[in-house]
Amino acid sequence: MRPARSFASDNNAGIHPKILKAVAHANTGHAVGYGDDPYTQAAVARFKQHFGADAEVFIVFNGTAANCLSLKALTQSYQAVICTEAAHIYVDECGAPEKFTGCKLIPIPAPNGKLTVEAVSHAYHGIGDQHHVQPKVLSITQSTEMGTVYQPSEIRDLANFAHKRDMFLHMDGARIANAAVSLGLNLRKATRGLGVDALSFGGTKNGAMGAEAVVFFDKKLARDFLYLRKQGMQLASKMRFISTQLDALLSGDLWKKNAQHANRMAALLKKELGEIPQVKIVYPVEANGVFARIPRRAIARLQKRYFFYVWNEEQSVVRWMCSFDTTAEDVRQFARFVAETVGK
Ligand SMILES: Cc1ncc(COP(=O)(O)O)c(C=O)c1O
Repeated sequence: MRPARSFASDNNAGIHPKILKAVAHANTGHAVGYGDDPYTQAAVARFKQHFGADAEVFIVFNGTAANCLSLKALTQSYQAVICTEAAHIYVDECGAPEKFTGCKLIPIPAPNGKLTVEAVSHAYHGIGDQHHVQPKVLSITQSTEMGTVYQPSEIRDLANFAHKRDMFLHMDGARIANAAVSLGLNLRKATRGLGVDALSFGGTKNGAMGAEAVVFFDKKLARDFLYLRKQGMQLASKMRFISTQLDALLSGDLWKKNAQHANRMAALLKKELGEIPQVKIVYPVEANGVFARIPRRAIARLQKRYFFYVWNEEQSVVRWMCSFDTTAEDVRQFARFVAETVGK
């Protein structure tokens, strides 16, 4: 029998009950559409508590849009965005960032999923040459697509590199909560405090039903964003139901509790898998994902009971994600099943 919870993705999880309750609570009477409602005002105020009173916040439906629209606000079409070759914006958004910005994305090989100043310096060339795209943004994902977490000094170095060259640092924070708790930092210190200029803030993977936001730390960058969001088809008419999710997530440390739990479950999964000689963990487990090389023949057998994604087919590496609602029993049951299956 298929278990109720799998390890395929943190967006396969349901909605945290407190968030669902907030949505139900917002479902009273009428409220003005397009964000001019008390729920959106409350959510924006909550973001400002976390990120600073001068942060500019725009609520959107999904993470791809948060990335595309924030990058659009930072660039002109003759400019370029430097990211890793594993970046969601590069491999998992169907070319939407290129379509919306008109910019070239410059992918950099990045073992462990992280951009480094060294690697970025090699891609930074052709400046002032009319034949070349002009690098304008470094985009990093925190936590990374490989479940690793940039250390504060690594982000600060990238921000310094960017700012010295009149560039911006964008953070795809689909899993910023997991990264912040992993580093023991609050949301502001994990982003703005390290020199990030624009953040795609993720709620969906951390217990929301479907809610993300773009946060700018310099008002000038947000100047045209209302128009970009509408033109980008991301202005929700019944915005209150998205806003209230983010308000709930950012209240009473729910964001932190959910992310801490998901990270703890990933650490437990890593420990349980460590007992299985045929399973090799391939990246440091620093947030809520575990990446493992397993015998190729075991993949289909495992997937019969637990749906999950193969990360690298050639290398037989799979990705297992934990969520706010993963239980220790789920992890142990899964690890037992892996042990049985790879041993066959
Ligand atoms: C690193 C990263 N960025 C952004 C996203 C946002 O994706 P979506 O447009 O599905 O909300 C995801 C979701 O898988 C992700 O893993």
